[in-house]
Amino acid sequence: MPATQSDSIIHHDLVEQLADARQRSDELFALVRPDSLYERPIAERHRIVFYIGHLEAFDWNLFHQRVLGLKSFHPEFDRLFAFGIDPVGGGLPTDQPADWPGIAEVRDYVRKIRAVLDEKLSDALADPHSPASDGFSLSTLLNVAIEHRLMHAETLAYMLHQLPLDRKVAHTETLAVVTAPIAHRSIEIPAGPVTFGLPRNSDLFGWDNEYEAHTVDVPVFAIDRYKVTNRQYLEFMNAGGYETRAFWGDGDSDNNNNNNNNNEDWNWRSSQGISHPAFWKREGSQWLYRTMFADVTLPLDWPVYVSQAEAKAYARWAGKSLPTEAEWQRAAYASAQGAEESAEQFGNFDFARWSPVPVNAFPQSQSAFGVHGMLGNGWEWTATEFAPFPGFEPFPFYRGYSADFFDGKHFVMKGGSARTAKCMLRRTFRNWFQAHYQFIYTGFRCVSR
Ligand SMILES: [Fe+2]
Repeated sequence: MPATQSDSIIHHDLVEQLADARQRSDELFALVRPDSLYERPIAERHRIVFYIGHLEAFDWNLFHQRVLGLKSFHPEFDRLFAFGIDPVGGGLPTDQPADWPGIAEVRDYVRKIRAVLDEKLSDALADPHSPASDGFSLSTLLNVAIEHRLMHAETLAYMLHQLPLDRKVAHTETLAVVTAPIAHRSIEIPAGPVTFGLPRNSDLFGWDNEYEAHTVDVPVFAIDRYKVTNRQYLEFMNAGGYETRAFWGDGDSDNNNNNNNNNEDWNWRSSQGISHPAFWKREGSQWLYRTMFADVTLPLDWPVYVSQAEAKAYARWAGKSLPTEAEWQRAAYASAQGAEESAEQFGNFDFARWSPVPVNAFPQSQSAFGVHGMLGNGWEWTATEFAPFPGFEPFPFYRGYSADFFDGKHFVMKGGSARTAKCMLRRTFRNWFQAHYQFIYTGFRCVSR
C-alpha cells in the first residue's frame, strides 16, 4: 500500500517530536556543572553520566538491528548504558566515578548514534507501512523512543533536584503566584462505571500496561476537592504524625491488593530516620522548601510531595484513605453523563515551570465532578498496587518496561507534574513508584467511603 500524505505528516511529526525530546534532555544535562557529571545525587540511582549514554543507547538498541539492520559500532557501550536501576530494599550501587568512561567518549557515542539514526530512520520512514518489529509499526517504536526520553526528562529533574545547588548552573524562577484563599471540602462522586485502558486495535499510542480497555464499577465515595497542601501536611506533622506508630501501617491497609505490609512503612520511617518530606528542610525554627534552584520559605499553599507511605500516614491521621486507581480515574474523567475524555488546556504541566503552584492556581482545571487540578502540579498517589490489566502483553521489544515492576512493591500514580510532557496526561497513562521513594513530584488527595 503506498504511503498517503497524512502518513508522511504523522511521521514527520514524530521525527520532530524526537528532536524536541532530545533538546529537553540536552537542556537538563546542561544544568549540571561540567565537574559534577559523575555525581550520584540519589543513592538508589546511577551516576549522572550513565543517563547521558542511556538515552541514546536505548534508542540505538531499539532501532539498529530490528528496524534498520545495522551492526553495532560500540557493543560495550550499548550494554553498559542499556538499563537503569531501581533497587528495592537495599542493594545500593557501589561503583566509583573511575568505573565509567570519560565524558568525551560518551558524548561522541551520543553524537554518532544521533547522526546514524537520523539518516537511516528517514529512509525507513519513506515506507511507513512496513511492520518494523514483531508486527509493531515504526510509529509505535518512535513513540516508545520519544516517551522513554520524555519520562527521563522528568525523572532526571527529580535527580538533579537532589544535586547540591552549587553543583548546578543557576537559574531564576518566579515562585510567587497569587491566588484566592483555598476552600477545602469533599466532593461526593456517585456510584458508577469508569473505563480503563486502550482497546488493542486503537490508533492511539499507549504502553503495554495501558491495554486492554475494560470497565469497572466504582461504589460511591467522596474525594478532596484539592490536593493536600504543605499547610495541611504541617498540621499532621505538628500533631506528631511521624512519631505515632498507629498512622504507619496498622494492618487495615486501604489498598485492595496488598494486605501484608503492616509494619514495612513504620520500619522504613524508623530505620531511615524519616521525619519530614524530602523537599523540606529545617532551618532554626522555620521550614524551608528546596526548589530546584533555591531554598525558600515553605510555600504553604503548594501541594505537598511525599512518598506513598507518608501519604497513607497523613490519610489515616485525617480519618480517610488514599483513593484507589479506579476512584481517582472516575473522579478525574467520568461524569454523571458518562463522558470519559478531558482535553486539558490549563494547568502546571508540559515543562511549564520547575516548581509547583498553589493547589487552586488554575480554577478552570477541574473535572466534570468539580474536582480541581487532577492533571499537572504533581502526580497523585493511589492505594492501588501496580499490576497488569486483564489481557496484558509485554511489548516484545521492551519486555521489562512494566512487567519488572509487578512485584507488589510499586503503586500507581496518576495525573502529572510540572515536568510531565503533555502527551502523558492522557486518560490511560499509568505511572508507578515504590511506596518509600520520596524524591518525586508526587502528592495526594484523600477519599472517604
Ligand atoms: Fe530508561
